[in-house]
Amino acid sequence: MKKTVLVSGGAGFIGSHVTVELLQAGYEVVVADNFSNCDLTCFEDVKKITGRADIPLEKIDFCDEAAAKGIFKKYHFDAVIHFAAFKAVGESVAEPLKYYKNNLVSFLNVLEAAKEVGGCNVLFSSSATVYGEPEKVPVTEDTPRQPAMSPYGNTKTMCEDILQDTVKASGGTIKGILLRYFNPIGAHPSALIGELPRGIPNNLVPFITQTAIGKRECLSIFGNDYPTPDGTCLRDYIDIVDLARAHVFAVTRMMEGKMKKDCEIFNVGTGRPVSVMELVNAFQKVNNVKLNYKIAARRPGDVTAIWADPTLANKELGWKAERSVEDTLKSAWAWELHLAGK
Ligand code: WQD
Repeated sequence: MKKTVLVSGGAGFIGSHVTVELLQAGYEVVVADNFSNCDLTCFEDVKKITGRADIPLEKIDFCDEAAAKGIFKKYHFDAVIHFAAFKAVGESVAEPLKYYKNNLVSFLNVLEAAKEVGGCNVLFSSSATVYGEPEKVPVTEDTPRQPAMSPYGNTKTMCEDILQDTVKASGGTIKGILLRYFNPIGAHPSALIGELPRGIPNNLVPFITQTAIGKRECLSIFGNDYPTPDGTCLRDYIDIVDLARAHVFAVTRMMEGKMKKDCEIFNVGTGRPVSVMELVNAFQKVNNVKLNYKIAARRPGDVTAIWADPTLANKELGWKAERSVEDTLKSAWAWELHLAGK
């Protein structure tokens, strides 16, 4: 009997790539999304990639408690992967209440609904942002979390605590895994799904590809006077398909009862620090395009350097990032060309 996974926010950038990998790994998936930050084409393209025209789609907002409970009554879920959240760091600073309400209430409703049906395996989409500006890099799962640099980051920290406390009080009926993502970039090799930020992209790679295709005039590199080898910030850029596969390994670990604690944390990164300048140069080289960029002032709140020690995920999940930065940057460019109909 196939196991069924609920993917909340399943039509979004990470959710859609995880849905593809789960289906291709033999899981059944129910996609739930309110389409507040993505559109239906993404879901249609997931069906094209997987050849599955019958993926159940539920258009719901998990802030609606009755809707959240309803979906847990309509289906039997062996696991839920919770992506449904707002994720723009800058916007969260301008509109904190919108972020606290949406990101916390939606997760609370998922947990309440899971509890009401006797429990579930819960996998939460967390972020390296919980580490703030780490004292020491690379960061392990034991690296202390730091006060969040934004309300968005704070909702990740709070949801981690909410899951851990809920698992503890659940008498074993709710198990949890927190996956702390570093910087997800790139697109599916089919170039049918990828990152589709609304408006001006906050993140580096979509801004690079939109500049290269001519949608943006010039890329601003936010500061080259950091205490790093080339003066620009260091990050752990992880390919979106590698990231998606980590979810399959994590869900399988839960299903097969291989967890060593009722709530586990894993860093999902490559362990490979890359600077903004290195990424810009690699993008131009592998795609043979010239990028118009300038050095601009530092962006407030940016962390100088953070990258993962992925040893625990490699060992316990049996998962390892495989794609090179070069291949990922090729996929990001192929996706931008697809969007432009080229
Ligand atoms: C990376 C580097 C910028 C844009 C955030 C969130 C994290 C996750 C990923 C959601 C930094 C520089 C960027 C630009 C630039 N979010 N940059 N010019 O800030 O590391 O992480 O996004 O899931 O939780 O915190 O990612 O891509 O915004 O920035 O120079 O136009 O690129 O200064 O050094 P970040 P980013």
